Amino acid sequence: MESFVINGGQRLKGDVFINGAKNAGVAVIPATVMSSGVCVIDNLPNIEDITSLIEAMRDIGAKCSFRDEHSIIIDSRSINNYIAIGEPVRKIRASYYLIGALLGRFKKAEVALPGGCNFGNRPIDQHIKGFKALGAEVMIENGIVKAHAKELIGANIYLDVVSVGATINIMLAATFAEGQTVIENAAKEPHIIDTANLLNMMGANIKGAGTDVIRITGVKELKGVEYTIIPDQIEAGTYMIAAAITGGDVTVKNIIPKHMDPLTAKLSEMHCSIFEGDDFIRVVGNSELISTNIKTSAYPGFPTDLQPQMTALLSIAKGTGVITENVWENRFQYIDELKRLGCQVTVEGKVAVIEGGAKLTGSKVNATDLRAGAALVIAALAAHGRTEIGNIRFIDRGYESIEKKLASLGANIVRIGEGSTSENISFMKKTV
Ligand code: UD1
Repeated sequence: MESFVINGGQRLKGDVFINGAKNAGVAVIPATVMSSGVCVIDNLPNIEDITSLIEAMRDIGAKCSFRDEHSIIIDSRSINNYIAIGEPVRKIRASYYLIGALLGRFKKAEVALPGGCNFGNRPIDQHIKGFKALGAEVMIENGIVKAHAKELIGANIYLDVVSVGATINIMLAATFAEGQTVIENAAKEPHIIDTANLLNMMGANIKGAGTDVIRITGVKELKGVEYTIIPDQIEAGTYMIAAAITGGDVTVKNIIPKHMDPLTAKLSEMHCSIFEGDDFIRVVGNSELISTNIKTSAYPGFPTDLQPQMTALLSIAKGTGVITENVWENRFQYIDELKRLGCQVTVEGKVAVIEGGAKLTGSKVNATDLRAGAALVIAALAAHGRTEIGNIRFIDRGYESIEKKLASLGANIVRIGEGSTSENISFMKKTV
């Protein structure tokens, strides 16, 4: 098992390029299942979740080949299997999009219940409600979601909770349903618009993505296209917060600044200086950061996926910050690890109270999930001394080359393999 070793205290400075969005990539790839042509997806991040999904696609018969590190050619015409229950499907959350895509294409799908980060109960009842409204019979047997329909017929579907996954999954299945489907109380995240844009380019008829009412008129066929996915707002936000915690001066490039509004507002409240261009944001930290309060919610609210990173930042700010987690029932499991670095946080239910002004010090910690791992990296960058972060496979699920990007900004960070010792780390430092 690999770890990151970080010697904190370096001020980050420079430019960092942001990869394509993980949560768009993991929706767009399953969408290609429905194409009767060959699709090329560009700007894909080179991360574990995408690798797992591509394995899952190959398992059902898709021909996938990389044109380069960030561009994949997917030929779904060879898919001959509506059953996706292998190990790669079980590893990631977004494999649930295979249900909507296979159901749309074959009118039947059998997909293993998804894995992903453990934030407590992660139901998929709204996905199932949508598939049933379209005419499918859906049951869960031995950890496998089985959906079968004689035909899919458009329907009005009101989501009881604003769900990214349910919105995209229903959109996928409804693309091949007879007549019109209306999704009300739909989620509005940028990756929902991105998936709808891809489907429309392929020949779908989807209107209203990005608003809370999406109208899908069913079509008979989708063609092959070349599509470039949007930049990753969560990766961008992670580097912006890393800049802030180190009092740095970092320009985050290749992004859509509008997607970052909830974070730029909070960093400004904390007295960071923010400069926006067409496709970049420059964050200049401040030695006197002021605390703030955050309530996570669906887009355009503050993203829950930046909540752990903000806990790390609030720990060194002046004053007390309060974070209310409104999306996931149990997303503070990482706090005990952050406390090992000196963060002073108390959690009660959905609320974390962060006492600012902590003097962070290096320690040995473990990532408990993807964004929790990012929070530990951020805290370690500001901590005095050496931090070793274990379980970094979680971080690799969603961040491409995080240690290389941070090192290029001036961080002292190395990846070490199992069996590496303090001695050979100092050797590595001497020889690089
Ligand atoms: C997606 C993101 C994840 C992010 C989350 C919220 C992907 C692959 N993952 O997850 O990183 O944290 O959005 O922005 O895009 N819910 C139900 N029933 C359902 C579905 C969801 O009650 O059928 C609830 C969930 O328990 C949660 C809330 O709705 O409280 C939001 O979940 P949802 O938006 O569906 O999250 P995901 O799509 O799984």
